[in-house]
Formats: sequence, C-alpha cells, structure tokens
Amino acid sequence: MKIDNYIELYKNKTFESMNLHFKSKEIFPGGINHNIRYFKPYPFYTVKAKGKFLTDIDGNKYIDFWNGHWALILGHSPKMVSDKLKKQVKRGTLYGTANESSIKLGEMINKAMPLAENIRFSSTGSEATMYAIRLARAKTRKRFIAKVIGGWHGFNSNLLQSVNYPYEVDEGIGLIEDENQFIESIQFNDLDRSLKVLESIKDDLAGIIVEPILGGAGCIIPKEGYLEGLQEFARQNDSLLILDEIVTGFRHSFSGAMNHYKLEPDIFTLGKIIGGGLPIGAVCGKKEVMSLADMTNKSDKRMYCSIGGGTFSANPITMTAGYTTLKFLKKNPTVYEKINSLGDLARNELSKLFKELKIDVKITGYGSLFMIHFLNDKVREINNALDSALTNNELLFNYQFALIAKYNIFFLPLKMGAFSHAHEKEDVYKLLEATREIFQNNKARIAHT
Ligand SMILES: Cc1ncc(COP(=O)(O)O)c(C=O)c1O
Repeated sequence: MKIDNYIELYKNKTFESMNLHFKSKEIFPGGINHNIRYFKPYPFYTVKAKGKFLTDIDGNKYIDFWNGHWALILGHSPKMVSDKLKKQVKRGTLYGTANESSIKLGEMINKAMPLAENIRFSSTGSEATMYAIRLARAKTRKRFIAKVIGGWHGFNSNLLQSVNYPYEVDEGIGLIEDENQFIESIQFNDLDRSLKVLESIKDDLAGIIVEPILGGAGCIIPKEGYLEGLQEFARQNDSLLILDEIVTGFRHSFSGAMNHYKLEPDIFTLGKIIGGGLPIGAVCGKKEVMSLADMTNKSDKRMYCSIGGGTFSANPITMTAGYTTLKFLKKNPTVYEKINSLGDLARNELSKLFKELKIDVKITGYGSLFMIHFLNDKVREINNALDSALTNNELLFNYQFALIAKYNIFFLPLKMGAFSHAHEKEDVYKLLEATREIFQNNKARIAHT
C-alpha cells in the first residue's frame, strides 16, 4: 500500500497539530505522555470529544474507535455523567478524606461482581495490578508471579516484562534483573506449555496474572479450557489466580469476563470503564485475601500488606463519574445488546469484505472489541501475542493510517477497536466503505506488501 499519499493528505489537514507536536517535543520526551499515543509522522492534537467523535485542533472530526483506551463505553462525555460532574465540582474535587461516593461505587461493583467482596481503589490500572501481585505474595508467602507473554498490566516495573516482541528482550533500559527475577512468562492459549513452566516454579508460585482476553496484544480470546486450566493449577498448588479485568470488566455485560468464562479468581483488577472517563484502578477480591490490606488496629507492620490508594484514590469526581456510568449500564442492559451486536456486525462484514477482496485476514475479538490481523505465510491463526506480532503489521498500520488521513476514522494504529453506546450501524458501514476503497485503490501494491 502506498502510504506516502496518505501522509501527504494527513499533513495537509493537520497543520496545527504538526505545530503543536513541535512544541510538545520540547516539553515531553517524544512529545507524548503515553508511549502508544505516538504514531508517525505525528499524532493529531484533540481539542474536543463528544459522543463518538474526536475533533482535532485543525477542526477534523474523527469517528473514534479507540474510545479513550477502550474506557468510554458510553462514548465521550455523556450528558448524564457531565451533569453529575458539574454538580460534584461545586461540592469539591478532591477531599483527601473518606467519602460516601466511594461507597456507592464500591457497592455497585460488589453487587455486579460478588467476588469483589473487598475493593481498594487506586488512580490507575498499573497501580491496581501492582497491588494485586503484592497481595498474592502476602497471602501465599511465595515469590513468583507468572504472566502471559504479551500480557499488558501497566507500567509497574515487576510486570513490565515480555510485553512487546521480541519478548525475551527487556522492555527497555532501567529495568534491573533483581527486580524481575521472580516473574515467569507463559504462552497464552497453550495450556500444556504453560503448565510445564508453572510446574517448575510451583513451590514458590504466588500467583498467575492473566487478562481473560489478551487486549493490547491483539484482542485474542482464550481457547476453551485455557483459563480454567490455569485456575485449576493455582488451586492445586496454593497459588492465586489474578484476573486482570481492566479492559473486560463491564465491557461485555454488567459484570466481568469471569462471569462469561465461569472463573473464580482470588483477586481481580478493574479500571477504565468503572471510572466513567476519569482515572481509576481497583484491586478486588475475596475478603480472606483483601483483608490483608487492612492495617487498622494493627500495631505491627508485619501483620498487613501495604497497598495504596494514593493522593487521588477514591476522589469524588472519579467516584461520581464511575457510579453514574455503572448505574446507567445497570438500568439499560440494551447498551450491551447494542454494542455487542455492532461488534458482531463489524467482525462478520469485515471478514466478508476481505474475502471478497482476496486479502487474507483474521478478525479477532468478542462482543464490542475487534481487531483485524493481516495474515501471511508465517501466521495463519491468531492464538497468542506472538502470532499477532508476526502478522503483517506494516500493512495494518498503513491501513489504519489511511483511515485517519482520508476517511476521518480513528483507531489508535496497531490497536484493537471498540464500540461504545454512541456508535451506530452507520459507523460500521462507513468503516466498510472506507476499507473497500482503500484496498481497491491499492490492490497492486498490497499484493507485494
Ligand atoms: C489489561 C490492562 N491492565 C492494566 C492496564 C493499565 O491500566 P492504566 O493504563 O490505567 O495504568 C491496562 C491499560 O491499558 C490494561 O489494558
């Protein structure tokens, strides 16, 4: 696919963004505040977001399939949430004290996901997973944590391993071996190989942390029996299963993926959707584990597991947005019917279209999450992160960039897409039309990509 023309188009329509990017690079490393938000030649700079649209500083209005890192299940800035926020701002933004709004959100989560017998809120998912593994180590008094290759649990140092291809190479400098020596990686969807690795560390295995659907690594659903097998192993060996539901919690139903896959994790993490568009993370679990975090009335710090919070944890703004969002989802289960069926429609129609265009793809996903993988001789199936990494990601980037440059359709390049309540069928049809045009115009080139 000839990308140059699209780069030209993009540059012509994002002049102010380019200027901002020059400024931004002076202030922030790489001009960004999250590694994945950069894409070539420079990202556009958003000034407004409403419903399914992002508007950049040059006035381009994009249909957004990225939805704030897949957090915005109701779309950008839904009215009922912003109305409640306006009222809450008048009453205060950060109390820095115990407050009732946290109880309302906590109770809502607990009713929807009864295994959240106890919850601790934080401000990011990265903190929540960091606390989750600390709790697992505290409960079991063991040291090893097993994680999946390609599994993404945020930027905490312990779990920043085997995230990006090539997986055996450190995720950058500054991560020291001593810190990571008790993390072991396992292959998603390969139970036999995973169990062999787990077996070799079982006496010192505190927990297994896994996303029920591999999100950042390619929107990959688990094979039947894989997650159950990990759970079973954990049970038999006095280790804990930690399910990272930061993407999947409240994404497919008013519950978690644990409900769909009938899992009973000892600890699980939530984030994204439960913050209603504001920063959040949560570590949740059975009382027998979570009570280790209770340091009240304990005079000796050897008696409890010290986890956050933090300055902004359970702030009334986030709590209000999260509670309002979950309340709406609870009252309106049709939201899930709608977004899940939009996901089905996109997966089915894109598959048909690519078949017709004779382009070899695999569309993965479940419910409202979906991702296109361009297959090649090396990769025919998408079962794990490595499969996804070895597909034709150059073509995927060029395709998603073309969507941005010419059709004002935004996926964060190389990442899966998500539907929100603000999307409609017409958005799927727009995506299909644009996809057809992009590939028909570039047929000869694609054959050689
Ligand atoms: C599965 C999963 N866990 C943890 C995180 C980290 O959350 P945060 O970005 O809020 O720190 C993410 C973020 O994308 C995620 O997808």
